[in-house]
Amino acid sequence: MKPVKVGICGLGTVGSGTFNVLKRNAEEIARRAGRGIEVAQIAQRRPNPQCDTGSTPITAEVLAVADNPEIDVVVELIGGYTLARELVLRAIANGKHVVTANKALIAVHGNEIFAKAREQGVIVAFEASVAGGIPVIKALREGLAANRINWVAGIINGTGNFILSEMREKDRTFPDVLAEAQALGYAEADPTFDVEGIDAAHKLTILASIAFGIPLQFDKAYTEGITRLTTADVGYAEALGYRIKHLGVARSTDQGIELRVHPTLIPADRLIANVNGVMNAVMVNGDAVGSTLFYGAGAGQEPTASAVVADLVDVVRAMTSDPENRVPHLAFQPDALSDHPVLSIEACESAYYLRIQAKDHPGVLAQVASILSARGINIESIMQKEAEEHDGLVPMILLTHRVTERHMVEAITALEALDDVVGDVVRIRVEHLN
Ligand code: HSE
Repeated sequence: MKPVKVGICGLGTVGSGTFNVLKRNAEEIARRAGRGIEVAQIAQRRPNPQCDTGSTPITAEVLAVADNPEIDVVVELIGGYTLARELVLRAIANGKHVVTANKALIAVHGNEIFAKAREQGVIVAFEASVAGGIPVIKALREGLAANRINWVAGIINGTGNFILSEMREKDRTFPDVLAEAQALGYAEADPTFDVEGIDAAHKLTILASIAFGIPLQFDKAYTEGITRLTTADVGYAEALGYRIKHLGVARSTDQGIELRVHPTLIPADRLIANVNGVMNAVMVNGDAVGSTLFYGAGAGQEPTASAVVADLVDVVRAMTSDPENRVPHLAFQPDALSDHPVLSIEACESAYYLRIQAKDHPGVLAQVASILSARGINIESIMQKEAEEHDGLVPMILLTHRVTERHMVEAITALEALDDVVGDVVRIRVEHLN
């Protein structure tokens, strides 16, 4: 059978990895796919020394790949929302299948893209968009199809996890580690996407839609970054038996779906609390299977290429099947998506870590306890340190039971208004993941 002809758009970190893996493992891949996969065109703006493209035709015009009648599958690896959207929609309109690693594109424009793909009967595959090389979309969409999913929680930004791990283990500074993550090709073109949780929110949006059968709703995701975390909080969390991770949490409740990314204390003995460096991990809790954990490299050249090429193999295998019988983009049949709402962060519930800087006076603890109890907030534990020499202030660290964010925000406002409380109360959510 003739090989399937693929056009790779973008020859950066992931594009060059994809080209190299396709070339190196061509024989194995053909044995799996049932046909060869030939890169018939590459769109690149500048040469990439990490990739010997040999005699493969090159163009500087990405849209030329979408218009090339020879190409069966367009691989979109240029990133961003604008040109990538145009490229993908053009490829679909021209009857081509699409493979993309672009989480921003899928999270923001996926509903539109999937609708067009259904009209044209083509596949849009996007495994590499979430958690790099971990086949978590496939696991959630196919392997766990029997389950009602209760929650998904994941470390889904490699750069952020690398920064937090290096800061904790080696006492390195934030900018220093971020610069290394950029040099290693982990970070987004705009690294604020990594450290402010936007990249993780893109990925969480995709996971939530596949887990719960809801349309993609990135605009409703709550996002909080890691830039304000201090080594003091990392240390107090450790002393209490927790690790701080930048976690994406999607939880189904009777009221709606929680969709949130924020720094989170996790008990240090959970496997996921020990996921370090650029590694990602996603926990999925289903009613039949219980808790599962998917772990692996969440970013980087060949781990991400692994997912792109696996999608290509899936596309090749599915090319002859009836479009109505293919695996649906968001796991659920398109006419069976639910309108269960995504909750605002105020309606979400979690336990909390609070750090209060208080004056060293009698009765402060009683005032703090009274503010919390008036709002039904149950204290799980309290740690009070000695007054600090430089300012005489006493750090007071509390862990609470679960409470809605609305009540916690009210309590924090009241705490910050106390004469004996100095500065902002530090608040980090806690998830026990059990
Ligand atoms: N910037 C992303 C990360 C790349 O660090 O996880 C993979 O999506």
